[in-house]
Amino acid sequence: MVLRLSVFLALFLLVSCGPQTKELDQTSEEKPFTKEDATSLFTMRCASCHGEDGKLGVSGAKDLSISTLTDTEISSTIYNGKNGMPSFGGSFTQEQLKALVPVVKSLRK
Ligand code: HEC
Repeated sequence: MVLRLSVFLALFLLVSCGPQTKELDQTSEEKPFTKEDATSLFTMRCASCHGEDGKLGVSGAKDLSISTLTDTEISSTIYNGKNGMPSFGGSFTQEQLKALVPVVKSLRK
């Protein structure tokens, strides 16, 4: 009885630990940040002020559809923030910052 219980326990531990370590491995892996990821990041973090089409203009947000900024200016605006725009430097990875630039530019006519 005791033996059977410890076999059960060992199996239980194996099962409950096994997949967990695997999941950890997966999240620490560098996953490529796709264009779709960048678009949904824009929807989540930027559209509240700029709108999906870039024209919403909440709290003085610039109309991104008529913006003429260069790639570097776009990423530094996102990184540093500007006046009413919060800084995202601390919350985005370099990869995310880079991927957002074409999303912002795609709003131009
Ligand atoms: C809290 C509202 C808010 C959020 C959220 C926000 N912005 Fe802004 N954004 C602004 C405001 C306000 C400005 C105008 C800043 C200024 O020039 O005074 C601006 C300006 C910009 C500009 C410069 C446009 C130009 O032509 O000068 C870019 C590019 C930009 N935002 C991109 C983004 C991106 C990308 C995100 C999401 C990561 C984002 N913004 C999130 C409010 C916001």
